[in-house]
Amino acid sequence: MCGIVGYIGDQPAADIILDALKRLEYRGYDSSGIATLEGKKIHLTRAVGKLAQLDTALKNTPQAGNIGIGHTRWATHGGVTEANAHPHLAADEVAIVHNGIIENYAELKAELLAKGHEFSSQTDSEVLAHLFLDIVRQGYKGAQAMQQVLARIKGAFALAVLLRDSPDTLFVARNASPLAIGIEDGLVCVASDAMAMAHLTRNVIYLKDGDYAALSLDELQIFDRDNQLANREIIRTSASPALIDKGGYRHFMEKEIHEQPDAIAHTIAAMTDAKGVLKTGLSDADLGDIRHLVILAAGTSHYAGQVGRYWLEGLAGIPVSVETASEYRYRAPAHLAGGAVVAISQSGESLDTLMALRHAKEMGLKTIAIVNVPESSIAREADIILPTRAGPEIGVASTKAFTAQLTVLFALAVDFGRAKARLSADEAAGLQQKLLSVPSAVGAAIDCFEAIRPIAQSLKKTPSCLFLGRGRLYPLALEAALKLKELSYIHAEGFAAGEMKHGPIALIEEDLPVICLLDGDDLSAKTISNLKEAEARGATIILIATASSAKLVDFDSFRVVIEDCDPLLAPLILAIPAQILAYQTAVEKGTDVDQPRNLAKSVTVE
Ligand code: F6R
Repeated sequence: MCGIVGYIGDQPAADIILDALKRLEYRGYDSSGIATLEGKKIHLTRAVGKLAQLDTALKNTPQAGNIGIGHTRWATHGGVTEANAHPHLAADEVAIVHNGIIENYAELKAELLAKGHEFSSQTDSEVLAHLFLDIVRQGYKGAQAMQQVLARIKGAFALAVLLRDSPDTLFVARNASPLAIGIEDGLVCVASDAMAMAHLTRNVIYLKDGDYAALSLDELQIFDRDNQLANREIIRTSASPALIDKGGYRHFMEKEIHEQPDAIAHTIAAMTDAKGVLKTGLSDADLGDIRHLVILAAGTSHYAGQVGRYWLEGLAGIPVSVETASEYRYRAPAHLAGGAVVAISQSGESLDTLMALRHAKEMGLKTIAIVNVPESSIAREADIILPTRAGPEIGVASTKAFTAQLTVLFALAVDFGRAKARLSADEAAGLQQKLLSVPSAVGAAIDCFEAIRPIAQSLKKTPSCLFLGRGRLYPLALEAALKLKELSYIHAEGFAAGEMKHGPIALIEEDLPVICLLDGDDLSAKTISNLKEAEARGATIILIATASSAKLVDFDSFRVVIEDCDPLLAPLILAIPAQILAYQTAVEKGTDVDQPRNLAKSVTVE
């Protein structure tokens, strides 16, 4: 998704900003740009496509100035064109980069057009640049101009602004979209993700919602939403300063699939107390008080939540609902007393999930966050954090964060089960042992890369396919379908195998690939009957199965077989061949594995 960087120091700003933008590249974007201020002259370079394009443009026309702003854009308002790329200029007096969406931009644009402002893009962000210009021309300067602009705009945003008449100052603001300030001797920088500037400084201030600031080398002035000077804490960021590399793998996704045994093992280790007992961060009082859970999440994190529901209800008897984060706050969700929400998010910045969490908080629910980025907005706003220890996930399609989320959810189910006396200490210890065996089972499952290649070669020719699963493997079928569609652009749907006969079976026609997940549990025989019904109508059957359950099927065309495992934990292990199938199909098709079209890593717009 969009990325913001800003810099003031003694180095050429364009070089520093380009380097910082490269550290945000993994998030997905379609154009980029940099504006610098040299004395009272604003220089601008923008390019469509990858940062290499911007780099070339800057080499052809170097840009002077020791203060500047830069942006990677993921199109929301207006197509992918240079004119729509940021920074946006207004009359060579204002340059602005913006993340988020200005909800009342149409009304503001009409007002500015009536005053004679001319626009060269279709974006809401250019409206902001002209709003600044309009306000500056009314005589407002610097932070006062920012204050006037903020009073007029609605929406979620992070902004960084250069004003020609304040040549030493960078103006920034945030509301719901993340923005951090970095401070070091001789430099001030800003970024929408601390990772972009961790090589410049580890001293970071996270702005709060409604904050705005005027930043220069001499002074940092931060104001809160009531326009009062605010003191915001400087923290040492844990974001990695290293440029993350592929470590010899072809793609970040391939590397991250291989990192899963470690990600799961580290996540378990972080939830193991001094006596070696599996314990999440919930106190016994919380575990006792909470009577039902509402899981809030989007995409892959949502499917992790759906798997988690089977564990939480099955092992702890605690009622769970799993909500689509983008829907939750727009209805009137009703809750019984004793409820808590669990927001699940890799990035901790998905705006839908953050807003849903805030809504739940306003309704008085206790908030728990399962997040992979400890300094993220969701982590900072939740009452209790249950971290996943997957390390930075760079591939846009989530892999290791998903299995780490499952690991935390399983541990949470065991924790609740013990606290609610649904599990004895021995039973809980037995489940802990099973969880401890997962990293090596996942390691063994990763060996199926080559076995999957012929399946991927066959799948790449299909326009559409179905994934089936029952029980805990039903949400995994949804996740497997999502992975395949986002990476290889093949239409894929996941269904509960038992639901096929209620409608989706009409989709089956000669040679339609139907991919079935089987773990050998009590439901496997029923799943196989449902699969047989698809095969009888001409479907090509592909099995992703444990060794014993695969023996029960003799009508498949392709199969990926993994070692037998406890069906309870099978979603964690069968996730691996499902991810590899999506990966290998994308490789066969030659799509952009790490940055699939139209997708962004951290979705900070509604
Ligand atoms: C799919 C994927 C997305 C994310 C979703 C939520 O591979 O990665 O569906 O899971 O955008 O993101 P987080 O977990 O960062 O809130």
